[in-house]
Amino acid sequence: MRRKVDFLVIGSGIAGLSYALKVAEHGKVLIISKTKILETATWYAQGGIAAVMYNPDTYNKHIQDTLVAGSFLNDEKIVTMTITQSTERIEELIRWGAHFDKESSGRYALAREGGHSEYRVLHHRDRTGSEIQRALTEKVFQHPNIEVLENHFTVDIITQHHLGKIVRRTHTDTQCYGAYVLDPETGIIDTILAKTTMIATGGAGNIYQTTTNPTIATGDGIAMVYRAKGIVDNMEFVQFHPTSLYNHKEKPSFLITEALRGAGAILKDQKGNEFMHKYDSRGSLAPRDIVARAIDNEMKLSGSEYVYLDARHIPEREILDHFPNIHAKCLSIGINVMKEMIPVVPAAHYICGGIKTDADGRTSINHLYASGEVASTGLHGANRLASNSLLEALVFSHRASEHAVKQIQEIEFMESIPDWNAEGTVLNEEMILITQSRKELQAIMSNYVGIVRSDLRLLRAAQRLEILYRETEALYDKSVLSVELCELRNMINVAHLIIKFASQRKESIGLHYSIDYPSKD
Ligand code: FAD
Ligand code: SIN
Repeated sequence: MRRKVDFLVIGSGIAGLSYALKVAEHGKVLIISKTKILETATWYAQGGIAAVMYNPDTYNKHIQDTLVAGSFLNDEKIVTMTITQSTERIEELIRWGAHFDKESSGRYALAREGGHSEYRVLHHRDRTGSEIQRALTEKVFQHPNIEVLENHFTVDIITQHHLGKIVRRTHTDTQCYGAYVLDPETGIIDTILAKTTMIATGGAGNIYQTTTNPTIATGDGIAMVYRAKGIVDNMEFVQFHPTSLYNHKEKPSFLITEALRGAGAILKDQKGNEFMHKYDSRGSLAPRDIVARAIDNEMKLSGSEYVYLDARHIPEREILDHFPNIHAKCLSIGINVMKEMIPVVPAAHYICGGIKTDADGRTSINHLYASGEVASTGLHGANRLASNSLLEALVFSHRASEHAVKQIQEIEFMESIPDWNAEGTVLNEEMILITQSRKELQAIMSNYVGIVRSDLRLLRAAQRLEILYRETEALYDKSVLSVELCELRNMINVAHLIIKFASQRKESIGLHYSIDYPSKD
């Protein structure tokens, strides 16, 4: 099937939906979601969304905290631009129908998370993401100009390459004409021609064995754009959340929000002793990279598979009012957080790098925008400050929408794009060829490219990944496409980029820690 839309949006999280709502005033919008519209990382966000709301907080303090967390590898102009728009974007989100908790005075209740010098995290109990996703989804379904295609998988974006021309990463005139999208039910790959395309496909946590990310997070957008010869950046910086619930084999790992530490919960070792002050004067509320590394070290020293988070001293009322989801989840596996400590372990959580964009969310490919976790905007530098990512998605989707709307009248559809050519491919009847490679990939990344790295580990990872890459490309070339095969290929691509960027960085900084270069360059 061939279709034409003004604005193609790939992804139905906060980045995709907030962009769609804005551009829909100016043309037809098609949103593609690889599973259900609600199944996004956005839905799972717990802690909240950072914004400067009241005194004594200031934009300058939030800017400084963001730069310190990012080890000053951030783009300072982008940080300033994002933070100074935070209040406006939150007000808009509230107008769209998202509810945040308030104090009895009527002011918004603000939480504090690791690395923040002030209370500035707006939240909806411990389910902020699902509240935002609910509000945006309702608005999207009400809009007459927006169509949502669920359970459709975007395989590749379309460029001049599909017209038989050579496209290189150094070219500045590469254009995006839309995308090829697979309907897994029918096996048909549609050609969707678009005047502009927004990639909002989220993160890639599933390249690791343990992750807080939902199963949709397989790095598809980053891989698609890299294949299309777009520029990616900052890929070595993968954030591990220090506290996911230790509950063997549960996927995704259930997050124990940092806001619980903000409310006073303390990390303890197997013997019940506090240990964070050995590593950082900020204790359990130090930035995530420091806490995750400290936990990793404590686990290695003691040989245990987890440490504890002690929330027993937090008043019962506060737990029930602010953390009902965590309370219920822990109870469901036999842990009463008011009486027992919570076993926690770090899990892959957020990729700071991705598709390089400018301040308007523009990628290096014309008419192609990126926003949300898939993008590398320059905001995070070497480490993301907690709760800055939902904000980043809102700001960049807003700016991208303004840019796209200005351009749209001048862009023509590229009618001569050929349909997908599946000639000579056959059904792959051995799923084990995909599932085993996926497990191997996750083991390689977790064991060699995790919280602590070294030159030798990265070299081993690269050599093993090369084998998986060759096998998967051979399988891809001869197979009728499936979601599982495309995801594996994308995950290998993203893993390759992380290893490549990590191998080039000869220092330890932010989220990239190498035992061969223990200090900053
Ligand atoms: P997502 O919300 O992940 O949406 C991605 C979309 O892309 C999905 O609709 C998916 O179906 C679609 N997609 C992907 N690939 C394809 C494809 N090939 N074809 C078609 N569609 C595709 N951040 C904060 O700021 N505060 C928090 O409190 C917070 N808590 C978090 C808690 C958890 C457990 C997790 C996992 C993350 C948390 N984060 C938090 C991070 C934040 O939630 C994400 O970075 C953010 O929601 C990403 O939004 P997004 O719109 O970029 O992507
Ligand atoms: C959390 O609630 O701890 C997650 C916050 C984030 O990832 O920004």
